Amino acid sequence: MNVDQTALLLELEPVVATNLDRHLSLAKEWFPHEYVPWSEGRTFDGLLNGEPWAPTDSAIPDVARTALIVNLLTEDNLPSYHHEIASLFGREGAWGNWVHRWTAEEGRHGIALRDYLTVTRTVDPIALERARMVHMQAGYATYHPDEMMHSIAYVAFQELATRISHRNTGKATGDPIAEQLLARVAADENLHMVFYRNLLAAAFDLDADHAMRAVTDVVSHFQMPGANIEGFQRKALSIALAGIYDLRQHKDEVLAPVLRQWNVFGRTDLGPEGEKAREELAAHMDGLEIQASRFEEKREARRQRQQNR
Ligand SMILES: [Fe+2]
Ligand SMILES: [Fe+2]
Repeated sequence: MNVDQTALLLELEPVVATNLDRHLSLAKEWFPHEYVPWSEGRTFDGLLNGEPWAPTDSAIPDVARTALIVNLLTEDNLPSYHHEIASLFGREGAWGNWVHRWTAEEGRHGIALRDYLTVTRTVDPIALERARMVHMQAGYATYHPDEMMHSIAYVAFQELATRISHRNTGKATGDPIAEQLLARVAADENLHMVFYRNLLAAAFDLDADHAMRAVTDVVSHFQMPGANIEGFQRKALSIALAGIYDLRQHKDEVLAPVLRQWNVFGRTDLGPEGEKAREELAAHMDGLEIQASRFEEKREARRQRQQNR
């Protein structure tokens, strides 16, 4: 880590402390066990000679099951995320307190989702466990290691992306219990987003050009945290076709509102480097708009074809 990074850590420490206090005053305590319909559970085959899992055990649509698996595997990789942010933000002071608090909250998400999926027999528990092993052994590494500004910008977008993804997955299940659980998780992700968004807003005030460059780089290379899940491309396409998380939502519900909060396109404090980065970002957003519209047209045409069949 170079001096700039260390200076930035120190400069942002009071902002972290203030926003951690804010977070703690807003975060609601909740209990995973209350969100799971335990009496619906049945012993599985294997050691205890129960009933094997069958796809007909659950009425939840296939694409919602796919999204639930992606969301859970993403949450499961928490040890890798913890490693990344603890390495970057450190374990001391307000930064350390945030890192550990955040990790504890994220841990709840995986617990709650797995308990729900196992008890309700929504997904094959053997396939799920094997997928978890593969995914966690692949690990997760940030795209911009040792870059504080980039990492903060990334997590601001990523927390909002997981919020939208959890919320829409809940709706797609058609199960009020799953929807309630995923709305609860999504509310946590939203608070995480606000924390990081406020942090980068403060970073903008410290060094607008650097923050602007970070935002442009992160938006241009954005990948979901679960992008290295086995078969992710295929899964992401079906999730996008179902409207659970697509490019339109990514642009309009994740990128745009955060960029607006930082007043990225209205700032008057940028130097030539910052201006250059902002122009790149604007061009990228225009490109995304075209891609998102194209995808929507194709999806609509596909829907029409299926209807006429
Ligand atoms: Fe989470
Ligand atoms: Fe989160």
